Amino acid sequence: MANRRTVIAGNWKMFKTTGEATDYAVRFLEEVKEVTDLDIILCAPFTALYTLKNELEESIVHLGAQNMAWADQGAYTGEISAQMLLDVACTYVILGHSERREMFGETDEEIAKKVRQALATGLTPIVCCGENLNLREEGKAVERVQGQVTRALEGLSTEELSKIIVAYEPIWAIGTGKTASSKDAQEMCASIRATLKVLMGLAAEKVPILYGGSVKAENIAELMTEPDVDGALVGGASLDPLSFAKLILNAVPSSVSVEEGI
Ligand code: 13P
Repeated sequence: MANRRTVIAGNWKMFKTTGEATDYAVRFLEEVKEVTDLDIILCAPFTALYTLKNELEESIVHLGAQNMAWADQGAYTGEISAQMLLDVACTYVILGHSERREMFGETDEEIAKKVRQALATGLTPIVCCGENLNLREEGKAVERVQGQVTRALEGLSTEELSKIIVAYEPIWAIGTGKTASSKDAQEMCASIRATLKVLMGLAAEKVPILYGGSVKAENIAELMTEPDVDGALVGGASLDPLSFAKLILNAVPSSVSVEEGI
């Protein structure tokens, strides 16, 4: 983990109105205002982004979206462009989340186009990958994840690849309360880094790789002890500002422990 940024990103998924987002931001900022050692990102629904832009201005919290279009603009009903995200002060975008792959039929090819579009416009993509339970039980998890990463990223320059974040989210651990063991998370994050090395050489050592799947204030510290786990992408536990702040404080080694609370 040495020499790499630590990143904790919250993925609100399809939760929170603008009013709820404002309340959250006020309470959350109060709790994390002293944090300096890691990057905090809130990935909110499109409709809450403008509200959060105003609330988070000049704060240490960065703003992210959960998806975007691969095209610049045009007749793409229901889509949101990178320019629109930049316009509301987004600097990050989650791409290829398993919920988009599984429920909305997003393909590796579309995800690769979106990654290129994000990089071309200056957004940092958080590229998601992860296997389902069947593949894990069949011993094909590494093959699936390495394939997803390769197909999303091949052909990009080392300079471009140096700007991305990868998030490993095993589907069987998302929203299930079943976290991958820190050993399993480490094993997969290391194999993702090996894949990145094939694509970009030693510069892969600098790419933050996050774990996601039932991360909570109670298990983040252990995950963070693993050398290739550089942070977390957090769903359910990011929805409450105080719990998410506690999780963040527990991710910072020198900070208060979960027992002490905040
Ligand atoms: P949970 O933290 O709710 O398991 O969700 C993980 C996730 O999908 C984050 O993108």
